[in-house]
Amino acid sequence: MENKVIINTDIEKGIINKNIYGHFAEHLGRCIYEGIWVGEDSPIPNTKGIRNDVLAALKNLNIPVLRWPGGCFADEYHWKDGIGPREDRKRMVNTHWGGVIENNHFGTHEFMLLCELLECEPYICGNVGSGTVQEMSEWVEYMTFDGESPMANWRQENGRAEPWKLKYFGVGNENWGCGGHMRPEYYADLYRRYQTYVRNYGENKIYKIAGGANVDDYRWTEVLMREAAHFMDGLSLHYYTIPGDFWKGKGAATDPREEQWFITLKKALHMEELITKHSKIMDKYDPDKRIGLVIDEWGTWFDVEPGTNPGFLYQQNTIRDALVAGLHFHIFHRHNDRVQMTNIAQTVNVLQAMVLTEGEKMILTPTYHVFEMFKVHQDATKLQVDATVGTYEFNGEQLPAVSASASRAKDGKINISLCNLNPKEGAALTLQLRGMIDQEAAVSGRILSAEESNAHNTFEQPDRVKPVAFTGATLENNQLNVELPPMSVVVLTVE
Ligand code: AHR
Repeated sequence: MENKVIINTDIEKGIINKNIYGHFAEHLGRCIYEGIWVGEDSPIPNTKGIRNDVLAALKNLNIPVLRWPGGCFADEYHWKDGIGPREDRKRMVNTHWGGVIENNHFGTHEFMLLCELLECEPYICGNVGSGTVQEMSEWVEYMTFDGESPMANWRQENGRAEPWKLKYFGVGNENWGCGGHMRPEYYADLYRRYQTYVRNYGENKIYKIAGGANVDDYRWTEVLMREAAHFMDGLSLHYYTIPGDFWKGKGAATDPREEQWFITLKKALHMEELITKHSKIMDKYDPDKRIGLVIDEWGTWFDVEPGTNPGFLYQQNTIRDALVAGLHFHIFHRHNDRVQMTNIAQTVNVLQAMVLTEGEKMILTPTYHVFEMFKVHQDATKLQVDATVGTYEFNGEQLPAVSASASRAKDGKINISLCNLNPKEGAALTLQLRGMIDQEAAVSGRILSAEESNAHNTFEQPDRVKPVAFTGATLENNQLNVELPPMSVVVLTVE
């Protein structure tokens, strides 16, 4: 079948919230320590302890929002252990992630500094599982109270006079699992109670995010919406793309087999069904779509790289991950009426990371490049896309061969992202720019692709997978003719 895509340049479908391009960094493995924080005395060049190379790479992504400190770690984290002189901070065991010592050197002040340097919004996840209401309440007071108060005074003693601006606050994480193994009825009540004391001080207005469902646990969403919708601004959802079985073997990150490729993309596309069904339940209680669906953990989860600490969740990142990222963004764009934020897991050295580090070295992953290429969609106006595309078949199963999304940026340029899911065959596409009146328009683009389905960057070959100029698109009479190579992600700009 021919691949025909109509970009309706005159049918606008709301804004693609830039927070869809959000991130998540947990005290897990080498994400925070080594990956972001090296300390002020490190030989690795740093800004007040935060490594400069990672900072510069992440800055280039225009990260809009960063979630911290977990994950499972959040429900064991006691923020008061992570403030004051670093040498006096309490050491604890990170029981979830490798049983290693956590020295609390990266705490609230360091995280807020990171966000300031990245110019992104902090999204802090509070501790419901093992923390008290008072502890959560005081954390918010510590960060945001302007004036005389026990916590604000303490913050000032620790070197920060002005309160920080804090918009996003999560009330616990995975409360159905590592965050307390609760039933939704119980968590809904706890959520109502804890969030009461997450106060808005002065001008600071907090967007409260309730801990949401695991994958297809629709009952969780139903109960939370029924019992607590009135008290929340966002409800989370976690879904990871795991080609195998979570407990018996997830699959290798660099597996070259087409079967693994196919199943990974198929599972990535499952996100569409999950969002549709969770949204439908949310619509019942919130028809005006005031409450955002916040997918604050998503991405690939493979077996850890052989020879690395199993608790550190370090994995390689291939062109397959790039396709997973591109497909997710297209799904999130399609649901921009409900999906207000997403946070990939995780930013550095953990799961589907942007960058990998080894000592003083750093490489960018294929996923990084997709985030960088797609940043043109951040806060852009979504354009309606009508696509009729062929299929990519494997072993009698079918997936759509091509995925497309389009938006108009504030500067008037139209950006079109395309994914060819087939690792073996190219795809020819016609894209009609319906409603466009500019006959003088020109097209340019970039492509991320590879020769092999497990192609990835290493410290020895850091640029094996990286975007290059794309010459496979021509524009004539408002129609784009595009030749997509196999397993490729392309972003075209029409201006
Ligand atoms: O991202 C790794 C872990 O996955 C998080 O800590 C947890 O929330 C989820 O189960």
